[in-house]
Amino acid sequence: ANPSLLILAGDGIGPEVMDEVKKVIGWFGAKRDMAFDVSEDLVGGCAYDAHGTPLTDATMEKAQSVDAVLLGAVGGPKYDDLDFSVKPERGLLRLRKEMDLFANLRPAQCFDALADFSSLKKDIVAGLDIMIIRELTSGVYFGEPRGIFTEGNERVGINTQRYTESEIARVARSAFELARKRGNKVCSMEKANVMESGVLWREVVTKIHAEEYADVELSHMYADNGAMQLVRNPKQFDVIVTDNLFGDLLSDAAAMLTGSLGMLPSASLGLPMANGRPKALYEPVHGSAPDIAGTGKANPIACILSFAMALRYSFDKGDEATRLEEAVNKVLADGLRTADLMGPEGGTPISTTEMGDAIVAALDAS
Ligand code: NAI
Ligand code: MG
Repeated sequence: ANPSLLILAGDGIGPEVMDEVKKVIGWFGAKRDMAFDVSEDLVGGCAYDAHGTPLTDATMEKAQSVDAVLLGAVGGPKYDDLDFSVKPERGLLRLRKEMDLFANLRPAQCFDALADFSSLKKDIVAGLDIMIIRELTSGVYFGEPRGIFTEGNERVGINTQRYTESEIARVARSAFELARKRGNKVCSMEKANVMESGVLWREVVTKIHAEEYADVELSHMYADNGAMQLVRNPKQFDVIVTDNLFGDLLSDAAAMLTGSLGMLPSASLGLPMANGRPKALYEPVHGSAPDIAGTGKANPIACILSFAMALRYSFDKGDEATRLEEAVNKVLADGLRTADLMGPEGGTPISTTEMGDAIVAALDAS
C-alpha cells in the first residue's frame, strides 16, 4: 500500500499554500514513482463552520491512523469571539495532545540565495542546517504545583519544572533517531549546574546514548551558553535537544537566524507506530495570515518545506527531501521572490501559485 497522508489545510492562507504543496506531492507521484494515498479534511474555523467543532472525532481518528498529517494553518478574525472550547486553535491542540506529539522539530536552515536576508553576517549563516528538538508536552509549562498563592502577607506565583525519566528518554530517542538521518550529532542543552531536572536530563540522555545510540556523537551544553553559541557559531550544531522552556526560546531565536516566517517549516513527532514510523504532524510555523489571505501574496515555501520534512523523517526519503529543498534554493537563486522575501532593493514579487509552479518546474529540471 502507498504511504498515507491526511491534509488539513485549515483557514486563511492555509488552503492557498496547501494547493501548492499538492502540486509538489503530485509531482513526486508522477515523476518519482512515490504515490501517496492523500485524504483531506477540515480543521479549525472551517471545521467549526461545517460541524460546530474545530476538529470532529472522525477527523481525529483519521489523523491517528495515517502515516503523516500535513496541516496548513488555523484561525482568523471571524472566529475571535467564539467560546474558548471551540476556538480554531483547539483543533490543533487536540491533535497534538491526542497524538501525544512530544517532540517539536524546528529547523533553522539557510538557503544560500537568502543568506543576505539574515540579520547575522553572511558567513555565519550561509549553508546553515540545524534542527532544534523541543520537548513539547511536559516541563515547567505543565508541572504541578502551579498557581498564584498567598504566603504570609504577599502573593507568590509558582510554576514547577518537572520531568520524569521516561519523558526525557523518549525525546532523547527522537533526537538520536533524527540525527542518524542527518549529521549524526546531538547536543543536549539544560542547566544541570543549577537545576535538578537538568541533572536528571543529562543523566538520562547520557544513558540512552550509551545503551542505544553510541554511533551518534553526543555533547552537552548549558542552555545559556547554547543561546550564545547559536548566535556566535550556529554551524557547530546538527541536532539540539532541549526541554520545553529552553526549546521555546532557543527555537524562536534560531528560526530568526534565517529570515522570513514564510520560509519556516516544523514537525511534531510522537512515539513510533506499528509500522515503525513516528506519529507525525507537519506544518508551517506561520499562522493563517488573515491580512493577506485571498490576495495571492502568501509564500508557500514554509508549507512545501514541511512536506520535505515529512519525506525525510516519516518516509525515509532523505534524497527526495534534498531534491525538493534544492529546487526551492534554485528558484530563490533565480531571483524569484514572494512579497515577504523582498529586500529593501525592491523588485516585482510573484504570487503564491507562481512560486509553486516555479518549484515544480525546478523539480522537473532536477
Ligand atoms: P501569522 O503567522 O498568521 O502572520 C504574521 C505576519 O506574517 C502577517 O503579517 C502575515 O501576513 C505574515 N505571514 C505569515 N505567513 C506568511 C506567509 N506564508 N507568506 C507571507 N507572509 C506571511 O500570525 P498572526 O497574524 O499573529 O495570526 C493570524 C491568525 O493565525 C490568528 O488567528 C492566529 O491565532 C493564527 N495562528 C495560527 C497558527 C497555526 O495554525 N499553527 C500559528 C500562529 C497563529
Ligand atoms: Mg515561542
